Amino acid sequence: MKQYKGIIFDLDGVICFTDQYHYLAWKKLADRLNIYFDQEMNNRLRGVSRMDSLNLILQNSKKVYTDAEKSAFAKEKNEYYRGLLTRMSPEDLSGEVKNTMDALRERGCKLAVGSSSKNARYILERIGLAHYFDAVVDGSQIRHSKPNPEVFLFAAQRLGFLPQDCLVVEDAFAGIEAAVRGGFDSAGLGDARSCSSAQYRLAKFSELLSVASSEQ
Ligand code: BG6
Ligand code: MG
Repeated sequence: MKQYKGIIFDLDGVICFTDQYHYLAWKKLADRLNIYFDQEMNNRLRGVSRMDSLNLILQNSKKVYTDAEKSAFAKEKNEYYRGLLTRMSPEDLSGEVKNTMDALRERGCKLAVGSSSKNARYILERIGLAHYFDAVVDGSQIRHSKPNPEVFLFAAQRLGFLPQDCLVVEDAFAGIEAAVRGGFDSAGLGDARSCSSAQYRLAKFSELLSVASSEQ
């Protein structure tokens, strides 16, 4: 088992299932605009910022939209998405995720969130984790979203550790790439389980217990 002083978790699709809410909100917008959108395309948006995601979706449209129209679309999607988030409660945090994180902390690991989402703090509040992590870095604190490593580098810095002492846990190919570029080891879950550049590929969140420990 490798020693990691810090573990940096992505949020959407790793700690909770909000990746599906992103899908539903984008799908509603795409349907309204008559643009084809499916789960496979949604996988390419994992870890990618709101505006970059919109631009990828609009590649399937014959129409060219102005920046003002694009801002309005991004706002509309976020309103659909926020509507879905209001339904979330601590019951949406699975026992497996919470128990695994508690056990990692007991082993001496510091825990952080590294998310591209500007809604990350709101989601953490909804699921009862507002004060749980040693550091939270979200989409409002970074200039470049994944695959740029900025969010993870900042999270490691906030924990006070070097990238080589931290493990990144991700469901996005873009997130694993960000980890690689930043010099972090990574564990891929869900969609990122098929990403060959991840050091570990996990079938379930609790498998983290067999890969990470800390000597602190
Ligand atoms: C990432 C999601 O965590 O956050 C992406 O994987 C999303 O799908 C991105 O686009 C930005 O989220 P938000 O909440 O700021 O629109
Ligand atoms: Mg994710």
